[in-house]
Amino acid sequence: MPHQAVSPSSCLPRLHSNPRADHERAYGPSERAILSRAAFEEAMAEIGAWPGYAPTPLRSLPGLAREAGIDRIWYKDESARFALGSFKALGGAYAVLRLLAREVTARVPGVPVTALDLVVGRYARVTRTLTVTTATDGNHGRSVAWGAQVFGCNCVVYVPAACSPGRRAAIEAYGARVVVIDGSYDDAVRRAAADAAEQGWFVVSDTSYTGYMDVPRDVMQGYTVMVEEAISQLPASERPTHVFVQGGVGSLPAAVCGHLWESWGRQRPRFVVVEPHNADCLYQSAVAGRPMRSEGDLDTVMAGLACGEVSLLAWAILERGADDFLTIPDEGAVTAMRKLAEGKHGGRPIVAGESGVAGLAGLLCAAAHEDVRLALGLAPDARVLVFGTEGATDPEVYERIVGRSPEMVAEDPVSAAGR
Ligand SMILES: Cc1ncc(COP(=O)(O)O)c(C=O)c1O
Repeated sequence: MPHQAVSPSSCLPRLHSNPRADHERAYGPSERAILSRAAFEEAMAEIGAWPGYAPTPLRSLPGLAREAGIDRIWYKDESARFALGSFKALGGAYAVLRLLAREVTARVPGVPVTALDLVVGRYARVTRTLTVTTATDGNHGRSVAWGAQVFGCNCVVYVPAACSPGRRAAIEAYGARVVVIDGSYDDAVRRAAADAAEQGWFVVSDTSYTGYMDVPRDVMQGYTVMVEEAISQLPASERPTHVFVQGGVGSLPAAVCGHLWESWGRQRPRFVVVEPHNADCLYQSAVAGRPMRSEGDLDTVMAGLACGEVSLLAWAILERGADDFLTIPDEGAVTAMRKLAEGKHGGRPIVAGESGVAGLAGLLCAAAHEDVRLALGLAPDARVLVFGTEGATDPEVYERIVGRSPEMVAEDPVSAAGR
């Protein structure tokens, strides 16, 4: 494809290329202890058998690829993942299932516990006495609440004050009790851990910290189902040259990075982590070479990415597996949401939430700035895979940003014609 003129953009990204990235390094035992093919197979067999499971579509965005001056953009569209409309359905609910199975087995020894046993309430006398808890900006809590409802235990979810009413209501709709914390996501994580210790509850967190690794490892393993789907949907001759993935605590990018690394080894694509300017804990960790806090105030429209501290398990993969760390202003995500809603990508309108588009937004911002574009090797023949990790998980916020409701966007025949 001929190189297109790329229009300059005021979405100025900040790039740090990771000096510790090691493309020659084999996927070894320390990585495999976190994410492995065997554990993926288990997650796939389990989640693939849940009612309503179907691979989400992988969409080509030719209009935006042209705009970015590259060959292709592949967009893994998670907006219809189970009933939740985000990739998080694969993580939290899977971790709840594994935790309940372990707890039932410990109390009723001898018989392996299946998901179906829990769904039909075979061990309800045990599971009804158990409570799972977590902190969330929205999507993870929804997944844990959904898992608790389906597999039959109680659930308490802690949300930061900034969590929107729509996202709180969506969690409550699955029967969970929601506690609003006067503080940030990281404050909510600490409060969930403290209350769980006091009450004898089980923390099902998507972030790991010293002494707390098993459950977040299950969460990350659940996410690899999405990555494997994408691998099998990509045309064999079109292996991506780059992957741009948004990060909050880093479990998502680490799951994508680790699974591609194990699957493709040295042939894996260049891996770019994208965060909001104001919630840049992964970027800061890459700069320092060790887990660091965000320097920003976490005030971002990309609510799911508003995390101040990295997950240690995630960092263990990204430290060498991620090639680049990019941060973007909110404006980048807003513009990407509108472009997808308007069909500017060249196809049916795509409804995408503000955290879900961050990877794509990072690509578009990077491509629009010649120095960043060159530094990332975004040549005219580049093929980029991004993960659209949520739909309109809060319809009110979506409408405020895009100017139309998710339903109006999805049904708009003018946009569908690729205006
Ligand atoms: C839609 C969406 N995308 C991406 C992420 C980032 O995931 P992680 O915090 O595991 O990096 C989140 C986290 O909540 C999210 O909700």
